[in-house]
Amino acid sequence: MTKRTDMTRTSAGYFVSQETGIATDNPIATPQSSPPDILRCAYMELVVTDLAASREFYVDVLGLYVTEEDENTLYLRSTEEFIHHNLVLRKGEVAAVAAFSYRVRSPEELDKAVAFYTELGCDVRRNPDGFVKGVGDSVRVVDPLGFPYEFFYQSDHVERMSWRYDLHIPGELVRLDHFNQVTPDVPRAVKYMQDLGFRVTEDIQDEEGTVYAAWMRRKSTVHDTAMTGGDGPRMHHVCFATHEKHNILSICDKLGALRRSDSIERGPGRHGVSNAFYLYLRDPDGHRVEVYTQDYYTGDPDNPVITWDVHDNQRRDWWGNPVVPSWYTDASLVLDLDGSPQPVHARTDDSEMAVTIGADGFSYTRADENEGKLGNQL
Ligand SMILES: [Fe+2]
Repeated sequence: MTKRTDMTRTSAGYFVSQETGIATDNPIATPQSSPPDILRCAYMELVVTDLAASREFYVDVLGLYVTEEDENTLYLRSTEEFIHHNLVLRKGEVAAVAAFSYRVRSPEELDKAVAFYTELGCDVRRNPDGFVKGVGDSVRVVDPLGFPYEFFYQSDHVERMSWRYDLHIPGELVRLDHFNQVTPDVPRAVKYMQDLGFRVTEDIQDEEGTVYAAWMRRKSTVHDTAMTGGDGPRMHHVCFATHEKHNILSICDKLGALRRSDSIERGPGRHGVSNAFYLYLRDPDGHRVEVYTQDYYTGDPDNPVITWDVHDNQRRDWWGNPVVPSWYTDASLVLDLDGSPQPVHARTDDSEMAVTIGADGFSYTRADENEGKLGNQL
């Protein structure tokens, strides 16, 4: 991990360095087995308590396309997707996440996933027929952080709806962009994800090197998933991309017109981290959904890691608007492979909310002044 003094401070106020291994006092052993070659985050399986209410939110309001549905399950996809689904909504008693699912480069990569996680001592299950419709041979594990991860290659192909402008809405969700996970010990999580083949693109640290959150990618965007420090394992959000900022504004206008503004938790705004325009929504079960657009290309091997100071008031919102407390504290439970909620463990390091919110004078808009505007407080 690069020390702050060895990073380069940019004119925009963040720091850059080259990625190194991260220091952790509680490491998960690196397996001898090679990790599976992961292409991208592909879909999330969510348990929802009222399927009709969720269908209204995700299909009628947000406009995701229905690939298939039955009495208990909805298989949804975004405009540009050609695999069967990006989101599975399954009716159940407890709102939670059943799987964070990644697509791998070839069927052979599934053997690697089995070997990698077996060596880590994880619960590993493989189903040649897949665990959900539309997906073939797949591997599900509870990973060392307690998250239900899935890997698959085979998927039914469906039509890309990009050319069906007759069906598009002003707030069209075009791609699944990323997951965001809450975990108590971010360096421990990052080290394991680096072993799994992920690259760090950005993080939030303090001067002492405490890591509050980190963004990691397989595809050439800012991330496929992020690790947010907090009580976990829990799911912070699942994110879909739009093409343009105005698509996000249209979603806000629509929710207002439907008198559903209470679905809007945070934003719209511009992130410091990722540089993306964003909006956070809460679905009928409280699952958090981000809508996001216009982050940047990260595919070169020497792509600089961006580090934000935790006291930089513009890291989470470039305009300095405050982060609402629920965004820091609320998250969805995750399930083990038998469908039971995973126990939640308390964060071990300082919490980002505790060190940056309140009449603390900690957060700044300009690094040389220990004062900001209202955005540093609630
Ligand atoms: Fe996000």
